[in-house]
Amino acid sequence: MRPVIIAANWKMHTTPADAGELATTLAARTAIEGVERVICPPFVCLAAVRDALAATPAGAGVGVGAQNVHHELSGAYTGEIGAPMLVGLATWVIVGHSERRRDAGETDELIGRKLGRALEAGLRPILCVGEQLAEREAGRAEAVVASQLRGSLAGFGGEPGALAEAGLVIAYEPVWAIGTGRTARGVDAAAMAEAIRSATGELGQGFAALADDLPVLYGGSVTAASAGEFLAEPAIDGALVGGASLKVEEMAGIVARAGLTAAGRRAAGVA
Ligand code: 13P
Repeated sequence: MRPVIIAANWKMHTTPADAGELATTLAARTAIEGVERVICPPFVCLAAVRDALAATPAGAGVGVGAQNVHHELSGAYTGEIGAPMLVGLATWVIVGHSERRRDAGETDELIGRKLGRALEAGLRPILCVGEQLAEREAGRAEAVVASQLRGSLAGFGGEPGALAEAGLVIAYEPVWAIGTGRTARGVDAAAMAEAIRSATGELGQGFAALADDLPVLYGGSVTAASAGEFLAEPAIDGALVGGASLKVEEMAGIVARAGLTAAGRRAAGVA
């Protein structure tokens, strides 16, 4: 009974002056039955995107997400954003993106604490995991991702049931496929999605129930042309889209392909 989700990660693109218009255009061009859509703009564009979506009927089905959240609720953390500040602006949040692991030194333990703050604020988390190219070439991709899951979901410190209740989503984003134009193979991404559910289920008591229905998205150079390779895989529940999410035609194609997956699942009685 897993949903089909297409999430847009705008990264450090758009401004408060133009984000609203892009969001409403995307919303209007991607209204496809059975596909959950989420737009994650920069923090400073959250209000513009929220307001623009609220002002048009097409915006009704589109969620708004932040790209990060601090691991503490508040305090002397110059330039940071705490989860309570996001309430009313966003209902989703990305945590553990590889660009933040790389540029901000985020560890699995820290990412686990971010998950905790997100849940306390009622935000739905998209937890990103993924291996480096050298790790894949050494045959260690699944072990690396399992370790990321263990580190962050153990660091979370709360009940696995709370993660399930919040609707935790995992995004598998192999680092070597992000922004490179090089995608993983659909079969490899699907194998990883299964490995993610298995590894989550093995984390301890209570995690098996979470793992069964855990949505796993693929991310890394997804375009309208490549989306089918991933969305045709029953183990994969959607995509986290970077560069192509700023392009209306690309997103229209990606969400249309996701709609076929959703329709297929409905017909098979599994969605
Ligand atoms: P690209 O789609 O630009 O490769 O980015 C993927 C990503 O990092 C989404 O979070």
